[in-house]
Amino acid sequence: MAVRTRAPFVAGNWKMHLKLAEAAELARKIVEAGSGLQASTVVLIPPFTALATVGGAVAGSEVRLGAQDLYWEDQGAFTGEVSGPMLEDTGCSYVLVGHSERRQLFGETDETVARKARAALKAGLSPIVCVGEVLAERDGGRTLERIDDQLARGLGGFSREDMGRVVIAYEPVWAIGTGRTASPGQAEEVHAHIRRRLGESYGNEAASCAIILYGGSVKPANSYPLFQEKDIDGFLVGGASLDADGFVGIVREALRAYREEK
Ligand code: PGA
Repeated sequence: MAVRTRAPFVAGNWKMHLKLAEAAELARKIVEAGSGLQASTVVLIPPFTALATVGGAVAGSEVRLGAQDLYWEDQGAFTGEVSGPMLEDTGCSYVLVGHSERRQLFGETDETVARKARAALKAGLSPIVCVGEVLAERDGGRTLERIDDQLARGLGGFSREDMGRVVIAYEPVWAIGTGRTASPGQAEEVHAHIRRRLGESYGNEAASCAIILYGGSVKPANSYPLFQEKDIDGFLVGGASLDADGFVGIVREALRAYREEK
């Protein structure tokens, strides 16, 4: 079996949770519990209000900071929005783009996803671009078609170099916050498909380096078998990332599966 070169990547999306003192405490606990977990990338994605606080708490550690969204203009009269350069200035290295909650509740489209992903790259951030089908699409056998659409329209026109900095998160919408996870086989089918499509568009080398995360009700108990699938490189974690032990447990399980392959 080919040995995978992509080390585990685990991001915690805190969504609209935690005031400053709680955010600082959770970040500190994760840094503490996670120290010594080298060979993995760990990213904390708090709400905008807690970015500076969490940035301070993870400073000097291996843990990286990410934001949940951005606007595509650098500055201007866009009340309520936050730009890529502002996030970069706050210490972010990553930013979520096109999370299904943004798509479903706030009218994001594949076109706005493309603009935001491009703005992130321009600001020196790595976008974590989220794709995934709703239940009706899965039940109707249209999952891969939907993913193709999201990739083509959300990332169309990106160069090979750009793609080297893009992380993709496959999150079946029916699995987010529902306690219903995709089986390892269901997830791997989509991940392998995404990697194949990246290979067609950007070449095999770019495809084999690309980081493709799974998200949707990930917890320590299901992360090991998911990570054993060869095209699943880590996780975008929502609910379980609000608990330090649970979140670090997911990183440990991914690392265990990674090391066992070696
Ligand atoms: P969940 O959320 O882990 O709570 O299902 C995942 C996500 O929304 O990124």
